[in-house]
Amino acid sequence: MLQANAEAVGESKSEADAGFLWDFWYPAVRSSEIRGQKLVTAMLLEVPLVLGRTSEGKAFAMRDSCPHRGIPLSYGRLDGQVLECCYHGWRFEACSGRCVEIPSLTSQDKLKVERIFAGHYPCEERDGYVWVYMNGSGARLPETIPGAPALAVFSDKYKIIHLSCELPSHVDQGIIGLMDPAHGPFVHQSWFWRKRASIHEKAKQFEPIPNGFRMSPHQPSANSAPYRLLAKMTGESVTTTIDFVLPNLRTEIDRSGKLWFSSRATVTPVRRDLCRIDFAAAWNLPLPVAMFRPFAKKFLRQDQLTMIQQAEGLKYNPRLMLIDDADRQAKWYFALKANLLESRRTGGPMVHPMSGPVTLRWRS
Ligand code: FES
Ligand SMILES: [Fe+2]
Repeated sequence: MLQANAEAVGESKSEADAGFLWDFWYPAVRSSEIRGQKLVTAMLLEVPLVLGRTSEGKAFAMRDSCPHRGIPLSYGRLDGQVLECCYHGWRFEACSGRCVEIPSLTSQDKLKVERIFAGHYPCEERDGYVWVYMNGSGARLPETIPGAPALAVFSDKYKIIHLSCELPSHVDQGIIGLMDPAHGPFVHQSWFWRKRASIHEKAKQFEPIPNGFRMSPHQPSANSAPYRLLAKMTGESVTTTIDFVLPNLRTEIDRSGKLWFSSRATVTPVRRDLCRIDFAAAWNLPLPVAMFRPFAKKFLRQDQLTMIQQAEGLKYNPRLMLIDDADRQAKWYFALKANLLESRRTGGPMVHPMSGPVTLRWRS
């Protein structure tokens, strides 16, 4: 029975294709990490990056490799506008990557310095992160690119926290771990969340949205203490909406009367064997950051430990299964990804794997 409904997870990844989705925004570093003339390194989709800030405060991201001989530009020096390579002193405009000077050239040289570019990527700051638009290697940037994703907020004043943790696995494993409803009662057992004994059958409605799917607005699980607390505070019911959108975004919005809680988790591919969860949450509930942070941290840590253990098993390339309905979201993720790649390849419209609303049932 199980086998009949099971599907292999993912496709085998060739060396060249690490299974990343290019042409999307990914969070690279926290905004607070780049200040003054400091250069900071990061890696996204196996691309080494150097990030910094111009003297006007604009964040930039360049490929951390000098186009001359490949030494990391992060060993160089930033003067507020221009990044100078530490090896032969070629100088590059930080935001455009354009070469502005090659010190070794004489007046006889005909080389058009301004035609040389260091790799550079669009960069935007949002919600305390520097986001980098990872356009496919060698690909030209499209005329217009959408803005980097923003965390939904519903009032002028709110608290916000950021947490992150690394997972020693391919981004696909990180993402399907994020949308997996069945691990909750086992991995996240704790007095403040739920107990294993509280497992019960659930039916949740899902609907297709562009590049993703939504768990339709619903009253959240009655066995979770935080939701019960929220309902008690406002005297009104709590509504939760959870979205997943390619390439890697899971957002959850809980609202009850005037009170709201909004969170976003992204799973970003660093290398094919390493990804990172960045979790940002904002709220206007009377909930001190100092109280929420340890819980969120513990929750993430539980996921991280599990993924570390899973990576031990995945080293030996086991066959994996996705079952109905608890793993249906994971199947949608793989189908969305495949269909997006297919539509990019053919130039045709993207086929959504869901034809309409669906109710999924599982016990958790
Ligand atoms: S390697 Fe950078 S200037 Fe030569
Ligand atoms: Fe989890």
